[in-house]
Amino acid sequence: MDLGLKGKKAVVLAASKGLGKAAALALAKEGCSLAVCSRNPENLNQAVTEIREQTKAPVFAETVDVSDQNSLLQFMRKSADALGGLDILITNAGGPPVKSFEESTEEEWHYWYEVTFMTVVRSVKSALPIMKKQKWGRIINITSISVKAPVERLIYSNALRLAVVGLAKSLSMEVGQFGITVNNVAPGYHLTDGLERIIRKRTEAGEDRQDILSDWENKIPMKRIGLPGDLAALITFLASEQASYITGTTIQADGGLYSGAL
Ligand SMILES: NC(=O)c1ccc[n+]([C@@H]2O[C@H](COP(=O)([O-])OP(=O)(O)OC[C@H]3O[C@@H](n4cnc5c(N)ncnc54)[C@H](OP(=O)(O)O)[C@@H]3O)[C@@H](O)[C@H]2O)c1
Repeated sequence: MDLGLKGKKAVVLAASKGLGKAAALALAKEGCSLAVCSRNPENLNQAVTEIREQTKAPVFAETVDVSDQNSLLQFMRKSADALGGLDILITNAGGPPVKSFEESTEEEWHYWYEVTFMTVVRSVKSALPIMKKQKWGRIINITSISVKAPVERLIYSNALRLAVVGLAKSLSMEVGQFGITVNNVAPGYHLTDGLERIIRKRTEAGEDRQDILSDWENKIPMKRIGLPGDLAALITFLASEQASYITGTTIQADGGLYSGAL
């Protein structure tokens, strides 16, 4: 199936590893040119090299901490200049740490609000005028299954990501008339460095790595932990021409883990 993505210009935030990198690679394979960022230059260079080797896609990359307003806005402007436009925005950032409410602090609440929510607000604000003018755009936010079913001791994720869901639904109602769709994707468990950090935290507390993985696998109807590409496939479809009538949704890619009927 031709997804109609050849020549589209995509910005993927936080894309040197894990789900962001998989999304960038999948879009590049469909013929998109890319702008990507992350904080660590070595990781970013490695990801860009891999994407270029596998796809020959043009890639603009810059070291950016998306929680820093000025750096993010500068990156968004430079990306649109380098790509000659902007059609697709994938918002992403590092995930908040494992904390219960009682372990949470005022300082961390502010920090993770900036990372999780304001990153979306700011990058969308920057991309929207371009998308509106051309009457075509795709905004896809990487959130978490925690927006459908809160995950134990992920208090920042459980609380703050719902603001992204509310924002995306409201925004979809405002911008549909300009041919712009806004959707959230909700990963379940996908083997990435981010997930490894959660596993490590539990093994440090005395749990066995294989027991943790087996416990998750048993709860997942598809009986396996997801790969980053399992989410990237959904993102690629939502970015496609074929998904032009899908907006304001939050769709999980979780092997069936979420047990709600809707
Ligand atoms: N993997 C899962 O199973 C899963 C499930 C649900 C939700 N999620 C969420 O999905 C998102 C991505 O997860 P992941 O598993 O792919 O994480 P990951 O493997 O840790 O990768 C995170 C990526 O984001 C970059 N990054 C982190 N903080 C950043 C910042 N402030 N500014 C710019 N780049 C930043 C990292 O690169 P640098 O270190 O170079 O900055 C890296 O490229 C997270 O929000 C996570 O909570 C993941």
